[in-house]
Amino acid sequence: MDVDTIPVFVMGQRVEVPPTLTILRALEYAGYTLTRGVGCRAGFCGACATVYRLKGDPHLYFALACQTVVRPEMYLAQIPFFPSRRADYRIEDLAAVPATLFTLYPELLRCLACGTCSKACPQGIDVRSYMAAAMRGDLAAVADASFDCIACGLCSARCPVEETQYNVALLARRLYGRYLARRSEHLAERVREIEAGAFHQGLAELRALDEAGLTSRYNARDIEA
Ligand code: FES
Repeated sequence: MDVDTIPVFVMGQRVEVPPTLTILRALEYAGYTLTRGVGCRAGFCGACATVYRLKGDPHLYFALACQTVVRPEMYLAQIPFFPSRRADYRIEDLAAVPATLFTLYPELLRCLACGTCSKACPQGIDVRSYMAAAMRGDLAAVADASFDCIACGLCSARCPVEETQYNVALLARRLYGRYLARRSEHLAERVREIEAGAFHQGLAELRALDEAGLTSRYNARDIEA
């Protein structure tokens, strides 16, 4: 069967791939076995950060290979790992105060607010804004604005003053989650129920079902309005 294909360039090598494939699938279609630069295949793990240019277009584009469909004459380079500094700490030993951010990531205060990080983010996160919040020591704002970060590292790869924005954001989210976020009583109650064995029987019933039984139970579940 003939398959319509388009040319793309992988690290400079021309390959022909179907135009409906994601970059990740196209690499595999072209014969690459991916042992790095791939993880969840669903846009969550950040392992498949990719940089590309299009023929005749001077812009540099950034994408997740598992979420982006190929285009003709794409010049692709994957960045499966980008070395960056991550502070060592035990969250239990830290306080949720601005000084914690500045002490563990003093380079944070070098931020030029140039916005290169925001342009590089394949998630569309306004990294520049959350770095401004980090410089103000506003942990809650950093945690909220960076919530969709998947730590692909492209912001850091492009930063002219060598920040590690995504690690700063990770620290802020951890501090916020552990010390500042309102406790969920419902969650605590549910954990107590689980520990008391309230769901053992129900889980045993589910494990005994075959695929058709599971599908049927799933389709008959209560759905909140
Ligand atoms: S493979 Fe996990 S985000 Fe693409």
